[in-house]
Amino acid sequence: MRRKLVAGNWKMNMTIAEACAAVEAFIDAVELRHMVDVVICPPATALHSIFQLVRKSHVALGAQDAFWMEKGAFTGQVSVTQIAEAGASFCIVGHSETRGKFGKLEVTPETLSFFAETDHTINLKIRTLIYHDIAPILCVGETLAEREAGKTDEIVRAQLVGALEGIEPAELMKLSVAYEPVWAIGTGKTCDSDEANRVCGMIRDQLNSLLGEEIADSARVLYGGSVKASNSKELFHQPNIDGGLVGGASLDPHEFSEIVRHA
Ligand code: PGA
Repeated sequence: MRRKLVAGNWKMNMTIAEACAAVEAFIDAVELRHMVDVVICPPATALHSIFQLVRKSHVALGAQDAFWMEKGAFTGQVSVTQIAEAGASFCIVGHSETRGKFGKLEVTPETLSFFAETDHTINLKIRTLIYHDIAPILCVGETLAEREAGKTDEIVRAQLVGALEGIEPAELMKLSVAYEPVWAIGTGKTCDSDEANRVCGMIRDQLNSLLGEEIADSARVLYGGSVKASNSKELFHQPNIDGGLVGGASLDPHEFSEIVRHA
């Protein structure tokens, strides 16, 4: 039986002081929720300080991204060694805001130039995370145009294949996949829970055919995209949804602890 996992992606929000205050409020609220794995992904600047607060609790620390090279002339990047040293045991990889869409619903040459991450760079990051024993939370999902063209399954499958290509199944025991339709992120438009359940089931089938039954059974498949306290119960009750990747609603300790309670 897979444990549910709820991860809060704080994106580029919160100073270190604000982040610590939010975590202190949040830890008290989730103290009794030991049945759920909870991960906080603050900005890189707050990782180390937050680790000091969560290290004795059952709340784990995650980074929002990490670069695959060990060190060198990569201005502005943070390596996997550095996030591990700061205390992270999870890392989001391939979020639509780092795949070049930058929170926009469609990719344009302007938005692509922000990060321009590809399936290939995502694959390199996953390999590096595994090497450092950090659990990857791989994000996949289609844009609105891709959904309207009936390409959701095709796009999600291709993202999974590209991200996981050539990696030994035995190395992916800590993998989670978050289905995050781009059109539902930060827009208040949640994917219908039946449809989210269907796509999450398709992701598990795909993991089965790519990596075998053991990984398909162990990997948590999350839903992300405008998850809130008010819709999380219905989403988390779906048989193929093992939890959530929560953006905006994870910034409010009370709202986030309600979401964890629903898991
Ligand atoms: P949201 O973001 O919950 O604010 O829609 C989710 C995410 O980007 O992971």
